[in-house]
Amino acid sequence: MYRTFFLLLIAILVIGGMTYYTLRFQWPRDRGPKMVIADGDLQRGRLMVLEFGCSGCHIVASVRQARGRVGPNLENIREQIYLAGILPNQPDNMVQWLMNPREISPQTAMPDLHVSEQDARDIGAFLYMGSRYRMSQAADNATH
Ligand code: HEC
Repeated sequence: MYRTFFLLLIAILVIGGMTYYTLRFQWPRDRGPKMVIADGDLQRGRLMVLEFGCSGCHIVASVRQARGRVGPNLENIREQIYLAGILPNQPDNMVQWLMNPREISPQTAMPDLHVSEQDARDIGAFLYMGSRYRMSQAADNATH
């Protein structure tokens, strides 16, 4: 009796865990176009978010300190259609926006922060990962 209960409990935990994992990380697989920035260094991008003070104005996934409410929440930026309401959300445009927001949208409240192209690529790559960043790091650690 006790044994059956115990096995049932394990079965529920395993199935529940698998269902959670599938829904949370695997499905739906990828909605939008591929939001990947070639040669973007994710780890460096994450540090740059703090370095440039993006965190003071934005909420950013996987950056606990980034709780700013001046600009939009960037947690799910990869799924958004437009950047700042005017630029189609594509990797190249993301890099441009991070480098020259005021040139693209003169009235915007986001300041030009003199972000270099490489910095913008790193930050953009990191932002597009959203909450998947944690998983990618875990996978990296496992293979290295
Ligand atoms: C002084 C506050 C401020 C800082 C600092 C700042 N931003 Fe912004 N950001 C904004 C505002 C406000 C917007 C909305 C712009 C608009 O719609 O015109 C914005 C828009 C964006 C967008 C487009 C978001 C969307 O939903 O369309 C991205 C991406 C972004 N910022 C990334 C960054 C990154 C990365 C940094 C650091 C390098 C940064 N921002 C620094 C205020 C800021």
